[in-house]
Amino acid sequence: MRSHPGWLADEYEKQARFVFEEAEEILRWLDARPGERILDLGCGSGVIAQRLMRQGCNVLGLDVDADMLRAAKARGVTVVRGSGEQLPFEREFDAVFSNAALHWMTNTPQSVAEGVFRALKPGGRFVAEFGGHGNVAAIITGLRAVARRRGADESLAAIWYFPSPEDYGALLERTGFGVERIELAPRPTLLPGSLGDWLNVFCPVFLAQFGEEAPAVIAEVEDLLRPVLCDSAGRWTVDYMRLRVLARKPRR
Ligand code: BEZ
Repeated sequence: MRSHPGWLADEYEKQARFVFEEAEEILRWLDARPGERILDLGCGSGVIAQRLMRQGCNVLGLDVDADMLRAAKARGVTVVRGSGEQLPFEREFDAVFSNAALHWMTNTPQSVAEGVFRALKPGGRFVAEFGGHGNVAAIITGLRAVARRRGADESLAAIWYFPSPEDYGALLERTGFGVERIELAPRPTLLPGSLGDWLNVFCPVFLAQFGEEAPAVIAEVEDLLRPVLCDSAGRWTVDYMRLRVLARKPRR
C-alpha cells in the first residue's frame, strides 16, 4: 500500500485545518456562482463543499475515503465514494474543483485529467490546487536521510505526485483542455502542532515500516529539520509549494 491507508477525519481537521484555511486563493480562482453544478474532487471532510453549497452551488463531493465521507455527509454534503482515477461522469458539471487531493492520485494522473474532462460540460472549468514540484522538499530530504541511516526503504519518503507547471500544463493540453492560468507558488504553512503530528497524519506509509520504532524515527526527523523548519519559539512551518491551475474544456 503506497497511498494513504485511511484517514481519521477528526484528526485531519485538528492537525490540518490549514488545508481549508489556506484555500482562499484557489476559491478565488474558482469564482463559483450560485446555481452552478460543481464536483469537489477529493472532497475530504466536506468543509469546502459545504461552503460552496452555502454560496448556492449544487455540489457533489467525491472521495475514496470512508471516514472523510462520513464527516462530509454529517455536514450535509451529497457525496459519492469513488476514485478520482475512474470518474464515471459525462458532461455533468460546470466546474470540477480540487484542493489538496490530486497529489494522492499517483497511479495515472492522465486518467484523472481525462475523467475530469469527460465530467465537464462544454466550456466548463477545472480549478485545482495541489502540491507542485519542490513541495515539502525539506521534509522529504529529512525522511530519506533517516531511512538511509536506518537501512529502511527511502522511496516511501516521496509517494506523491508533485509535477512542475510545465509538465502538468502539457498533460492537460494533451487531454484537450485550454490552460488559462497555471502557477507554482511557495506557501509556507505554520502548523498547529509539531512536525511529528504532521508526519503522523500525512506520512503513515513511511512510518509504518518502522513499527514500534516510529516515535524514535519521528524524533530523529524533527532533530534534523529543526534548524530549517522550526523557529525560536518552537513553531513549525511546512515548506509547501502549491501548483494552481485553471483549465477549460472547449465549447466544442
Ligand atoms: C500537501 O498537501 O502538500 C501534502 C500532502 C501530503 C503529503 C505531503 C504534502
